[in-house]
Amino acid sequence: MNLQSAVEQVLFGGSIEDKLLDLSEFDLKFSLTPTKKEILPGRNKSIEFSKEQIKFPRAGSFHLKEKRALALHFFANHELLAIEMMAAALLMFPDLTESFKKNLVSTIKDEQKHFLLYRKRMNQLGVDFGDYPLNDFFWRQFASIKSPEEFYALVALTFESANLDFAIYYRDIFGEVEDLECQKIMSIVLEDEIKHVARGRSFLESQVDPKELWNYYQSLLPDKITPARSKGIKFFDEPRLKAGLSPEFISSQRDYRDQFKVTKRKEWD
Ligand SMILES: [Fe+2]
Ligand SMILES: [Fe+2]
Repeated sequence: MNLQSAVEQVLFGGSIEDKLLDLSEFDLKFSLTPTKKEILPGRNKSIEFSKEQIKFPRAGSFHLKEKRALALHFFANHELLAIEMMAAALLMFPDLTESFKKNLVSTIKDEQKHFLLYRKRMNQLGVDFGDYPLNDFFWRQFASIKSPEEFYALVALTFESANLDFAIYYRDIFGEVEDLECQKIMSIVLEDEIKHVARGRSFLESQVDPKELWNYYQSLLPDKITPARSKGIKFFDEPRLKAGLSPEFISSQRDYRDQFKVTKRKEWD
């Protein structure tokens, strides 16, 4: 198998095993070609997308282990979606540099690790991945992505950026209910997500003066997405500083408000 078929297996394959294939074992010098298939993830019956909406558990209910397991189920789904979107990017922008490929492959490896950490813990709490409906919200936003710049704006500086806040927020809630295993997972995820946001930042800063990053970032977002989606319930500066974002960028992000209902958050979603 070469890198092309391996990446296609991750995106189009329907099983969890397909999604967890280790791409770093393949020769990254291999030149990828755009896929002939429609860019949509394969999902076997047990992990297929569902229209059924379920609510993310309230923070106040985390003392119940089934609610913590449900939270992990949501987080794990996001990891799977991230894996698929990143595999898609490799097939959509195949003529990018080897370092672009390398960064994506190593990010995918982290997301696979996160998925496994979440799944293992939810299993211990009595839930298996696929027991609850899985939403495709991220994929629906991804459909409009046309360039690697738009990809990094949406995935790294929006979805993964929000993850920085959620990782801290839920790490602390897991700590409060003394689920140290879950707390530890969130700390691992947080450290990795800082690297992922940094990769997106540095890619975009190679295209534009860092002083212009905030405006540039906004110009790259899909119509229905605003920077409100790049933040959690509570906003934390520190992981963003660690990801190399400027204090100016961070304060614009912190102060950003919009009118759109789709981006309003009360709880994690
Ligand atoms: Fe992740
Ligand atoms: Fe990530």
